Amino acid sequence: MVVVYNSKTNFTKKYAVGYAKSKNLECYSLKEAKRLKKGMDIAFFGNIRLGKISKFKKVNKKFNILILACVGLDTNIVKREKELKELYNKTVFYFVGGINVNDLKGFDKFIMKKVVKSIEKQYKEHPTNNLEYQLRSIKSGISQVDLTKLNKIF
Ligand SMILES: Cc1cc2nc3c(=O)[nH]c(=O)nc-3n(C[C@H](O)[C@H](O)[C@H](O)COP(=O)(O)O)c2cc1C
Repeated sequence: MVVVYNSKTNFTKKYAVGYAKSKNLECYSLKEAKRLKKGMDIAFFGNIRLGKISKFKKVNKKFNILILACVGLDTNIVKREKELKELYNKTVFYFVGGINVNDLKGFDKFIMKKVVKSIEKQYKEHPTNNLEYQLRSIKSGISQVDLTKLNKIF
């Protein structure tokens, strides 16, 4: 098995590299993974975009995903893992990453503005600490990467 990751601003990469190191596995970005053989067993670390693991379909078509992990901003890990399990029909390990607004470009920046609006709307209806935290993080930039959390993957 090898580790493959998709990361735009390096938060997912940190978890993927950390996991690969701890298990002594090779680690490839999605771009590098182009040269890997079809059907290989992999652990895939993807970033969350609008509730979904981006590039999942493409990766799932080419590889045999034995371990599915992803990184997002939401800090409600239990809820997220439950939703993702229903969505992908398999165990999904969810980790909290971060955001670096200055690193976002083009479409991501555009979408992030929409995400902020949607969170603000939810916050107005049901204010929670989690939503407030998400808004603050997005606006100021934050990293919550915690490699010790990788222990939950066997
Ligand atoms: C366009 C866009 C949409 C996002 N949507 C979500 C989301 O729905 N849920 C979430 O928890 N995080 C969301 N995020 C936050 C990212 O998943 C988070 O910043 C992650 O750490 C990025 O990982 P990366 O640096 O590996 O790309 C979004 C970020 C961007 C830029």
